[in-house]
Amino acid sequence: MQKLIIDGGLPLNGEINVQTAKNAALPIIAACILTDEPIVIEKCPHLNDIYAMLDIMRHLGCDARFIGDDLHICCRDIALNVINSDLTGKLRSSIFIMGSILSRCRRAYISHPGGCEIGLRPIDLHISGLKGLSVKIVDDCGVICCDGSDMKSAVINLDFASVGATENLMMAAALLDGETLIVNAAREPEIVDLADFINALGGKVSGAGGSVISVTGVKKLHGTTYRPMPDRITAGTYLAAAAAAGGSITVNNVVPDHIFGITERLKKTGARISVRERSVRITAEGRPRPLHKLETNVYPAFPTDMQPQFCAMLARASGSSVIVENLFENRFGYTAELTKMGAIITVKDRVAVIRGVPTLRGATLKACDLRGGAALVVAALSAEGRSVVYGVEHIDRGYEYIESAFSTLGAAVKRVTDN
Ligand code: UD1
Repeated sequence: MQKLIIDGGLPLNGEINVQTAKNAALPIIAACILTDEPIVIEKCPHLNDIYAMLDIMRHLGCDARFIGDDLHICCRDIALNVINSDLTGKLRSSIFIMGSILSRCRRAYISHPGGCEIGLRPIDLHISGLKGLSVKIVDDCGVICCDGSDMKSAVINLDFASVGATENLMMAAALLDGETLIVNAAREPEIVDLADFINALGGKVSGAGGSVISVTGVKKLHGTTYRPMPDRITAGTYLAAAAAAGGSITVNNVVPDHIFGITERLKKTGARISVRERSVRITAEGRPRPLHKLETNVYPAFPTDMQPQFCAMLARASGSSVIVENLFENRFGYTAELTKMGAIITVKDRVAVIRGVPTLRGATLKACDLRGGAALVVAALSAEGRSVVYGVEHIDRGYEYIESAFSTLGAAVKRVTDN
């Protein structure tokens, strides 16, 4: 079993490059099924979630291999195997595969997806959207069986701007005759990246980044070489860690617009932020100022995937903060671990009240989900003394070599394998 040992209290200093976005790379990998030609995804991050998606791709007969940091994928022939729960259980994004397999093969068989333990995470919007494209769907003992033999383009109104459902439908429509409109589409930057990727394959997607996306199906898509966008949540995590631990760091390879909601809140905590074309610098000293109300919501509002890291940072704020989680109903589980460090946090339903304390103490902690795990690292970096963080496999789902990243910035973090 692996654990992180973190000796906290050191300010962060230096520069760091941000990895490619996991949440952009995952749907892009799924979209590789749309063509039988080879694709290279440059600088694909080495993450457990990516490996889990590649296992699914190989199960379907795709050839997928890393050469250095570049991922080479070719889905020449697709085997319509049932994607069992041992594969989907590791990764909620496995559901994206439905849209791309259906678009290419007009059939798909997939078990219900897994993912982070942060809420119910239903897939009703994916299912109703695909039904809107005339896919017949039945649930056979936990396997979702999709018959797309009569699939046709349509206008799909999403009841909620779900990121995954929008992506699934974009892929499903890519090879259908005619124009599909996705109304109330998600507007996250990862949606724009997927649209750019499908267009790089020769597809016709427009409107991504707005609320209505148009996908005009083409007969055939071709191969390409593509570099997905930088990871805005990883960038935000480094910045939140610097705001928590103090110091001055420059985060390179970011699109500052993508993290505007994050940097604006960091300014309110008293940090100084300076923005260049592809980098953001943060300088922070002393305790952060509290945030009176921080609410998560769909892009461009404050991202739910940054909520835990901000909570960890605000645990040492010079006053009380309130966080409202509007997207997931069970995303405060990690706060019980923070209280072991001396944090004072009360949670009721989707609201957390954080009474800032002057110091956190190192403790033995367990990560139970990806971003909650990142929050424990942020807290440990700013705490006095040693913390040991278990559950590193959750953190590895989304952060590439997190111990090296923070070591580069002057923190004392090492990964140890228990016998
Ligand atoms: C994606 C991100 C995830 C992020 C989330 C919100 C990936 C791989 N993951 O997840 O990191 O936290 O966006 O920004 O990109 N919902 C339904 N029915 C559905 C689908 C979603 O009720 O069919 C609900 C969910 O339970 C949740 C909300 O909609 O409450 C947002 O989910 P969604 O936008 O779909 O997030 P994901 O695509 O799962």
